[in-house]
Amino acid sequence: MNRRYRKTIIAGNWKMNKTATETKAFAEELKPLMSRAKWCDVVICVPFVNIPAALKAFKDTRITIGAENVHFEDHGAYTGEVSAAMLKDLGVKYVIIGHSERRQYWNDNDIIVNKKVHAAIDAGLYPIICVGESLEQRELGVTMELIDLQVKTALAGVPAEKMRHVVIAYEPLWAIGTGRTATAEQANEVNEEIRIIIRKLYGARVARSVTIQYGGSMNANNAQELLAQPDVDGGLIGGASLKPADFTAIINAANQE
Ligand code: 13P
Repeated sequence: MNRRYRKTIIAGNWKMNKTATETKAFAEELKPLMSRAKWCDVVICVPFVNIPAALKAFKDTRITIGAENVHFEDHGAYTGEVSAAMLKDLGVKYVIIGHSERRQYWNDNDIIVNKKVHAAIDAGLYPIICVGESLEQRELGVTMELIDLQVKTALAGVPAEKMRHVVIAYEPLWAIGTGRTATAEQANEVNEEIRIIIRKLYGARVARSVTIQYGGSMNANNAQELLAQPDVDGGLIGGASLKPADFTAIINAANQE
């Protein structure tokens, strides 16, 4: 973290978990635990159908609500899809784009990710762009090249003045839902590389101000060490964000004086 230059953002990604009723119950349990979240922004990204319930349940807190996906077209014959304008109109602030599960199961490739990033920004949403390598790619030694391609393609055509709305999340696939976390050094090494790429594209001032999260089995026990790294500006948290006590512990780790 480097609070002097950029926001620390702790974001939950609920994936396909919790009903609207369970969302309300989660909020009631989390609220009394949340008092110490002074130094970081807290976001919870929920399934589309839970967004109204989440907005209502967290209305009087400093938690902002995000979506987990968005379609890149404004409107039209795209059965089952949701546009950025629909999310914005509800009161959603963030949207996860290019999560590895979307890339794996729904073929959200880098070009589609770029289109979604533009749709989100144009509608006034803040994209959380996910990038990350598989275990095979890490073992082949192509992690940095892959990250370079993912970041550059995702940001193609995004003007510098919009970069203050963009969050990047480094999520190595081998760490997602596996209980196997990247070491703090591994996470920082890739996050630092992402910042170098952004510096080359947009200059030092923009690079310094962009929030770059880490995601992949972040939990109450390892959050503090990961967040102590200079280029790890927060977390994108799956499993541990579903439990109020664990999520609060991660928020508290981001709030150390
Ligand atoms: P886990 O925290 O469950 O590993 O999930 C990480 C993730 O995919 C967040 O987007």
